[in-house]
Amino acid sequence: MGKWIVASAWPYINTVPHLGTLVQTLSADVFARFKRKQGEDVVMVSGSDEHGTPIEVEAIKRGVKPRELTDKMHAYVSDLFKRFGLSYDNYTRTESETHVKFVQDFYMKVYENGHVYESEVEQLYCPKDQMFLPDRFVVGTCPYCGYERAYGDQCERCGRLLNPTDLINPRCAICGSTPVLKRTKHWFFDLPKFQRELEEYINGNENLPENARNMSLSMIREGLKPRSLTRDNKWGIPAPFPGAEGKTIYVWMEAVLGYVSAVKEYFESIVGRPEGFEEFWKDPETKSIYFIGKDNIPFHTIIFPALLMASGEGYVLPYNVSSTEFLMYEGDKFSKSRRWGIWLDEALELLPPDYWRFYMIYIRPETKDANFTWQDFEAKVNNELNDILGNLVHRVLSFIKSRYSGELPKAELDEESAKMIEEAKSIARRIEEDMESFRFRDALKKLLDMARLGNRFFNEREPWVDVKENPERAASTIVASFILIKALAVYMEVFMPFSAQELWKMMGLPGSPGKFKEAFSLPESVKLEEVKPLFRKVKAEELIQRLKEIRESGKLLSMRG
Ligand code: MF3
Ligand code: ZN
Repeated sequence: MGKWIVASAWPYINTVPHLGTLVQTLSADVFARFKRKQGEDVVMVSGSDEHGTPIEVEAIKRGVKPRELTDKMHAYVSDLFKRFGLSYDNYTRTESETHVKFVQDFYMKVYENGHVYESEVEQLYCPKDQMFLPDRFVVGTCPYCGYERAYGDQCERCGRLLNPTDLINPRCAICGSTPVLKRTKHWFFDLPKFQRELEEYINGNENLPENARNMSLSMIREGLKPRSLTRDNKWGIPAPFPGAEGKTIYVWMEAVLGYVSAVKEYFESIVGRPEGFEEFWKDPETKSIYFIGKDNIPFHTIIFPALLMASGEGYVLPYNVSSTEFLMYEGDKFSKSRRWGIWLDEALELLPPDYWRFYMIYIRPETKDANFTWQDFEAKVNNELNDILGNLVHRVLSFIKSRYSGELPKAELDEESAKMIEEAKSIARRIEEDMESFRFRDALKKLLDMARLGNRFFNEREPWVDVKENPERAASTIVASFILIKALAVYMEVFMPFSAQELWKMMGLPGSPGKFKEAFSLPESVKLEEVKPLFRKVKAEELIQRLKEIRESGKLLSMRG
């Protein structure tokens, strides 16, 4: 049995996440469920990213204290993630005591190891707001690609890491004034020291997908610069370095450590077996995998591994970083200010989570940007989820209900039935292969293929004819179909856990759909419970109308500041 740390990027908790964010959290969830079903030992973590300028800017806008904002939003978003079936073993927050202490201890170690130095620097300062302007408090033109709304820490267009003073024509993000330079002291992480080791790590890690590898290697070759660790902001984790009183740690430099601290917290506070932490994080065989958006690549392939190296603690380096491209909404970028997109709380008002989970995996932006359109959503839900998967389940179970009073008949599988099951098993194996290679879309499509196979089999065998004239053949058809939908439930749970559980219950099976290796087994005796349709058809027009009404009612507005 292998150990896996499965993680998704920690969302900034200044706002309600939209479907674009769900792509990452859902990817981690689907992968974690997949690994658990293979019998692997999985710890899945993430949490709310509470610090940094995105939160401060939003708190200023809403006229509340940052902590007030993050308390409220963390509770709200944790609940939404639960309702979406995201099976985190620990979804925590960067204000958690464990995280704060972990980060401080960690950096003291990096400091003692000689990888942190202090230096007087000139920083952008807004004379009007009377504050330094780090990170997202300043916008300007990217010196690399010319994008005019680059932030002080990163250009969102070309993905390069920046320092505020790199920006051409910088402006204060709060008031728009032109900042001045002012001297201040900061502590720096000596990133260039790790250049060689990083290059070796990236070259030696065959799992890293092409996009992450190329981007990282070209950044390394362009030359890594020291990264400033501290900020003059009050909101954040107090920097532990001697003489750094009043400074906080730069949000990215602590949030990435959350992957480590969240596992520590999990074993200490949730499992109650603290040793588990080092057994996971310090075992070179443990595989850690990160599901992130493509704009976060350098933080996960360069900064985070370098920090782990610098600690000298023997933490395992990322096994894989799986990044997705962007999700668009009806052809345009999601926009909070223009209210362009669908947010998670709205989504759940419209339809149960599995509809979203299904469609988001169906269009998962794996190799290129994806586009959510209502028209396609309607088509895929109706023609595939409902008409193929839902329909098969309904036909088979209703048949058992009406012709066998809900009790699965006994049967020896005839050759044709056995062959169908073999075919289903081969599809199942290919689902696992796709999952293993992060082709979740293909895996989901093969799940539908499995249902297609079942529908074809059921049609061709015409059990409604056999049931009178050839009861043994009918029984074989039904038992084989039952085995198939039982396996479907097991594989389906990876993507649509709620419907899989519902199906399991209708089938009269105890507990929940379990591991892959038992997917095709036949229980001793089966008595169905009430059979209901698993899915229903949707109408895009109605959903759009309903979304409009929700927005007009103001019902979900309290979380939006
Ligand atoms: N909060 C960041 C974002 O939304 C992601 C942080 S990921 C972590 O872009 F690595 F820091 F956890
Ligand atoms: Zn750029």
